[in-house]
Amino acid sequence: MRIAISLQPLLNRGLKVLVLLLLSSMAVTAQSADSGKQIGIDRFLDQHWQRPLAPQGTPPGHFTDLERSLSPQACGSCHVPQFQDWSKSLHSKAMGPGLMGQLVEMSPHARGEHQACIRCHAPLAEQADQLVDEISNGSPPLAFNANQDTTNPLDNSNLHRKGLVCAACHVRNNQRFGPARKDGSTPDPSQKLPHDGWVSSDAYQDSQFCAACHQFEPNEFSLNGKLLENTYVEWQQSRYAEEGVSCQDCHMPDRKHQWRGIHDPETVKSGVTIKSELSSSSEQIQGLMTMTNTGTGHRFPTYVTPQVVMMAYQEDARGQLIDGSQRYFVVARRVPLNLSQEIFDTRLAPDETARLEYQQNRRPGATNLVIKVYVEPDKFYEGFYNSMLQSGQMGRGAAMLQQALNDARQSVFTIYEKRLPLP
Ligand code: HEC
Ligand code: HEC
Ligand code: HEC
Ligand code: HEC
Ligand code: HEC
Repeated sequence: MRIAISLQPLLNRGLKVLVLLLLSSMAVTAQSADSGKQIGIDRFLDQHWQRPLAPQGTPPGHFTDLERSLSPQACGSCHVPQFQDWSKSLHSKAMGPGLMGQLVEMSPHARGEHQACIRCHAPLAEQADQLVDEISNGSPPLAFNANQDTTNPLDNSNLHRKGLVCAACHVRNNQRFGPARKDGSTPDPSQKLPHDGWVSSDAYQDSQFCAACHQFEPNEFSLNGKLLENTYVEWQQSRYAEEGVSCQDCHMPDRKHQWRGIHDPETVKSGVTIKSELSSSSEQIQGLMTMTNTGTGHRFPTYVTPQVVMMAYQEDARGQLIDGSQRYFVVARRVPLNLSQEIFDTRLAPDETARLEYQQNRRPGATNLVIKVYVEPDKFYEGFYNSMLQSGQMGRGAAMLQQALNDARQSVFTIYEKRLPLP
């Protein structure tokens, strides 16, 4: 609440818009299902992602302490590879400083406002309660660091800081849910398994499983006729949907719990093909760089938050950029901080190509044409955090937002760099 009334009008409006829009429930409405299996999946997911999630309730009396625990460390003491991968993934960092810095500024009683964010970032009811405690006690466990989390598996405190935990996707009413085994088999009810085995559902291998948080509903916030978050629909309209290549196939290869995306250089490289060429004379330099979305199953990139910059410039013998010779093409869906409009949208739909044509006089001393592509995964957030800090209205959250701002600035990386020698 405090954020919404005290920040500059621009920011204020942006936040309110976000909160209002995100408040509405997110269950994806059933697409015209063409098979009983699809109807089953839709029903399962409607129920599964009914938020706010209900508390797990009392576990069965015969459960051991380890089976009762909702902490990812508990699951990880048996499911080692999933835990190791998840710990490095962004899902485990979904309640990082950028989020917490904003949440601690809210009223502890404003559960609706908390839900508007944590229904995607930390959806368990048990996490919602702990968040209220942290906000009202005023003593955030600032020492908590997702990268060095050595919590005892039976310790369920700080669960809210652990973001999108295993149980948020896999446990309802203390019952585990998951896909069929890799060989297609499902647990035999007579077999004695930890946590009473699991209920198998095809929904775990369906792209719609991810839509619960990576797709807005048709009536939610859109700009220029496109929903602000539209990843599932972008995928649906692509050849990948037709070919049966799901979100999981690309983001959880071999069922790995990695979820690598725009923050991971190798993943971004795997999503595009970049080519460059040079034709030049002693006076004129002509270069061409193309970047094609050859392996990203939705727009490249899919959100309004990152930007990808294609750049070309002339360099002298000492490797210095010759000022004024640089040219750019930005691939992004650019929006202002208050989300009032779409400034431009140059993102690449699957198989689409962006071109940077370079045509300049050769500068004195130029030895190379340098062609480069760099990625700023948190471009929007950088501006957003900065503006909140500049407003001078931040209280307890300021230190966390400063941390988030530093992280955002450091997330930039280069995916392509070529020096084309000038004859
Ligand atoms: C004491 C060890 C143990 C603990 C603790 C444990 N599990 Fe399991 N889990 C198992 C075993 C064993 C299986 C059965 C594997 C099989 O038969 O293929 C299983 C199966 C599963 C499955 C189904 C796997 C599939 O093929 O679909 C899921 C999902 C799952 N567990 C999630 C969790 C989660 C989430 C937690 C923590 C909240 C957890 N488990 C805690 C041992 C454990
Ligand atoms: C309960 C909500 C929820 C579900 C379900 C969910 N995600 Fe996410 N996902 C998030 C949130 C929140 C983040 C951002 C975490 C952060 O950085 O704070 C995220 C981040 C990601 C990222 C990293 C993006 C980047 O910036 O690099 C990928 C990739 C991803 N999710 C893919 C998936 C896939 C694939 C599925 C389905 C198997 C899925 N997610 C299911 C909420 C969810
Ligand atoms: C519909 C699901 C959803 C809701 C609701 C949601 N987010 Fe997110 N959020 C995401 C996803 C997905 C990402 C990852 C985007 C990316 O990687 O580009 C993300 C990323 C972020 C990030 C940047 C990553 C980080 O951890 O620092 C911040 C900050 C953030 N969200 C804040 C909020 C706030 C504040 C709210 C509530 C007003 C909110 N979100 C509501 C899905 C959601
Ligand atoms: C964002 C939701 C999400 C989170 C968080 C998540 N999982 Fe999963 N998990 C899935 C999906 C989806 C699959 C099925 C992937 C597939 O079949 O391609 C899966 C599959 C599994 C399986 C079966 C693996 C196999 O090889 O058969 C186990 C076990 C499991 N998860 C345990 C965990 C544990 C333990 C954690 C936490 C450390 C966790 N999951 C966190 C979504 C999630
Ligand atoms: C054919 C492979 C492929 C498929 C299918 C795919 N992705 Fe991606 N995804 C990528 C690649 C490559 C990237 C990195 C480039 C980028 O960020 O666009 C990425 C990036 C992302 C990101 C990072 C945020 C951003 O702005 O790009 C999220 C979130 C994401 N994918 C979610 C999903 C979801 C949800 C689905 C299913 C509806 C899905 N992906 C389907 C390959 C795929």
